[in-house]
Amino acid sequence: MFDSGFGGLTVARAVIDLLPGEPLVYVGDTGRYPYGPRPLDEVRAFATQIAGWLVDEHDVKLVIVACNTASAAALEHLQEELAVPVIGVIEPGVRSLLTATRSGNVGVIGTVGTISSGAYQASVAAIDPGAKLTCAACPGFVEFVERGETDSDQVHVLAERLLAPLVDAEVDTLLLGCTHYPFLARTIADVMGREVVLVSSADETAFEVRAALGADAATDPAHPARHRWYSSGDVAWFRELGARLLGPELDHAEALAWPDRPPGA
Ligand code: DGL
Repeated sequence: MFDSGFGGLTVARAVIDLLPGEPLVYVGDTGRYPYGPRPLDEVRAFATQIAGWLVDEHDVKLVIVACNTASAAALEHLQEELAVPVIGVIEPGVRSLLTATRSGNVGVIGTVGTISSGAYQASVAAIDPGAKLTCAACPGFVEFVERGETDSDQVHVLAERLLAPLVDAEVDTLLLGCTHYPFLARTIADVMGREVVLVSSADETAFEVRAALGADAATDPAHPARHRWYSSGDVAWFRELGARLLGPELDHAEALAWPDRPPGA
């Protein structure tokens, strides 16, 4: 599983809870975050490099792209390139969104890369062409989470400005279409109002992983797996904030160094 940083830990939590016996290898590419403002082909190159490393070095049997920006940029490419199943977060998120809405008036927030890719607009239209969708990019949210600042006055002020189009559109359900955003759920809920349902892709993605693993899925909590956690940035910070955000399973972190030039650069 990989993300640009701490965001994928929201998906890791759901996967560990549902499949406690499956050993997870997590890469937080904190040395190169944020992905959101980068061109999609650069994000695709990073995603290809990380997914290839997971398969080559760790012999993983399945890859989870626990990042919306990387899913928008690279999911199809990875599914064609890799010999193992690859699961992204966009379609599971859209399923959660369209299951939860009562009125069909829905919103999605994500990074600039994700929203401008059109991936959510296409996925919602494919699953429910009648849904009314309002999208907004939220530049800056990821940086607050990476600093461990999930509940400050500053993030609240930013949220009021960025979420205004969703409040004006009177959506009844809002999908947090960036895996970092569930860590800002309290702030986002304060701004959106209590009647708006917030959904994320984490649980639905975990269900998809369980379905892909089939009868082999290790679901027995009596035999918890040991996981490995990698960061390409500040490893001590990854360990400290990661444990705060994910929980006790993140009890160590290892350094991951990429060659100077990413593939394709
Ligand atoms: N968690 C990533 C996502 O879901 C954040 C991308 C970023 O680093 O900007 O899109």
